[in-house]
Amino acid sequence: MTEPQDGAGVETDSGAINVSRETESATMAAATWPDFYPQLERFHAWLVGAGLERGLVGPREVDRMWERHINNCAVIAQAIQPDKTVIDVGSGAGLPGLPLAIVRPDLKITLLEPLARRVDFLNEVVADLGLANVTVVRGRAEEVKIKADIVTSRAVAALPKLLGWSWPLADQEVLAMKGSQAEAEIEAAAKYLKKNNLQAAVLKVGSGIVEPETTLVRITRKNG
Ligand SMILES: C[S@@+](CC[C@H](N)C(=O)[O-])C[C@H]1O[C@@H](n2cnc3c(N)ncnc32)[C@H](O)[C@@H]1O
Repeated sequence: MTEPQDGAGVETDSGAINVSRETESATMAAATWPDFYPQLERFHAWLVGAGLERGLVGPREVDRMWERHINNCAVIAQAIQPDKTVIDVGSGAGLPGLPLAIVRPDLKITLLEPLARRVDFLNEVVADLGLANVTVVRGRAEEVKIKADIVTSRAVAALPKLLGWSWPLADQEVLAMKGSQAEAEIEAAAKYLKKNNLQAAVLKVGSGIVEPETTLVRITRKNG
């Protein structure tokens, strides 16, 4: 699990983790998604338990799991219309796909991940949480033959490469979580966008829930 959002850290100047901020983030999750909080909490337990033990989660992430990972990912629900199908490319330990699947049971989500150890973890979590709207597929984005309305990702590759992997799987749009380099990445992907008649927009979600807000790059067909 890598650092998802530039400037989203919760460390104090001295480097100590700000645990009270993490407690506030858990409280925020409970207030924002009351119906789904028990499942979010269970996913949190998996991440800081088996996820950490199996090396899928870095030790530094444990005390900022709600703020930087679970809440940060769950808010992307705000950018997705009802009843869509979604492929989460390079899902790793389930981010952003699992928080999204938990707070949006109307979505049908495929977690795509090539590494067996991560796929095993994902299957165990999905079974334990009873997530009927989630399927786990082992594979590389550039090799699988699956499609969905929307293709999400976080921390998988820079946009030019990511688009080559994600756009072929998308019927409608690619929604990539990005940090402060979002605009620069769009510029770097200009050739791919032009060639495929695509347009890119930066949007922010999670106002009042996560600070800073989560930055997304949305790629859609031009005129469509
Ligand atoms: C840095 S991790 C990010 C994991 C997760 N999205 C997150 O934000 O915590 C990148 C993930 O992308 C996966 N990955 C790498 N190449 C891939 C490919 N070609 N297709 C699909 N997933 C890939 C890796 O196995 C890894 O789990």
